Amino acid sequence: MSDSRLSSVALDVEPFRVMALLARGKALEAQGHRVLHLEIGEPDFPTPEPVVEAGQRALAAGLTHYTPAAGLPALREAIAQDYRQRYGLELDPRRVFVTPGASGALQVVLGALVAPGREVLLTDPGYPCNRQFVRLHGGVPVSIAVDASTNGQPDAQDLARHLGPRCAALLIASPANPTGAGLGLEALERLRRQVSEAGAVLIVDEIYQGLEYGDAPLPTALSLPGDSVVVINSFSKFYGMTGWRLGWAVVPDFMIDTVERLAQNVYLAASTLSQHAALAAFAPQTRAILAARRQELRARRDVLWQGLRDLGFDVGTAPPQGAFYIYANIARFGLDGETLSERLLEEAYVAITPGSDFGVHRAREHVRFAYTQPIPVLEYALQRIARWLGG
Ligand SMILES: Cc1ncc(COP(=O)(O)O)c(C=O)c1O
Repeated sequence: MSDSRLSSVALDVEPFRVMALLARGKALEAQGHRVLHLEIGEPDFPTPEPVVEAGQRALAAGLTHYTPAAGLPALREAIAQDYRQRYGLELDPRRVFVTPGASGALQVVLGALVAPGREVLLTDPGYPCNRQFVRLHGGVPVSIAVDASTNGQPDAQDLARHLGPRCAALLIASPANPTGAGLGLEALERLRRQVSEAGAVLIVDEIYQGLEYGDAPLPTALSLPGDSVVVINSFSKFYGMTGWRLGWAVVPDFMIDTVERLAQNVYLAASTLSQHAALAAFAPQTRAILAARRQELRARRDVLWQGLRDLGFDVGTAPPQGAFYIYANIARFGLDGETLSERLLEEAYVAITPGSDFGVHRAREHVRFAYTQPIPVLEYALQRIARWLGG
């Protein structure tokens, strides 16, 4: 029985199951086992040196006071400048809000759009915390099932069925977690048109942007016309700064004042130290480091994808486009995702994430592998899985 002093809204928030697996993995390590971590959405790379040095300089210079709620003007300008350089986009820095991670960006963006009873459409599978964020704002998360047949993104007819007068937004990610699926400009524009015709906002989480392995980079939704697109991004993944807790949102003009008021109230400002460090994230030296890491992640993806395929996992006909995950169908092994993840951890000391962390649509048939570890570790994990499957 839960304590009646606790909020019923908070009690409805579901745990992030991968955290429990992580804790179990740590317990096994404490017993002396070598656990191979393919569950964590965080590569093993350290933060690029120029970023660390910029953070150290800021600390030495005593830059430890609050920044404006929307972020350091120089960082907002640097982010806008990066969109100019990479995508040829003119972006008013006033639309850029620096936030405590993409998580902070999602809080203020959803806070600005979601009133009690209003709906937010989310992909299933998708990043699990989004459903909880919507609930915390009194909103109603509505799932749209996606899978390989829809390229991991909402299908037009499904979307039409779900879009209604109570719908505040459609929230998608490209590249997506857990599928790695990305969206081209045409597909994004189709979604934008459909969503804005229904009077709602399209929120595109681009946190894995930069981690795309095709010949051309995926587009940003900021290239779309109109004033009904919000982009969420972060320094966590591509820039290797998970623990610095820094991200951003780019919002349309009509949201600027509201998001600013929410930022002032919810967190006052993002970490000052992290913001100064992030100014070095766009320097040529950092870009070179990040480009090399992208190549390394691509090689890791290829090893893990081919290895899983050879072991009989259904990983589709081509490797995922981006992020650092492989969402594998395991139906042929006759175990559900939770049992398989649990047994693989307990019996082969390989940690992965069950599909049930990402939704309900065919979730029991899936598990997520993260290629956030070096190739020898992935190869070792594949050997252990092979032995486990054979035994
Ligand atoms: C799709 C997606 N959005 C947002 C986040 C939150 O990232 P952060 O708050 O570290 O920027 C994550 C983290 O894994 C994610 O996968």
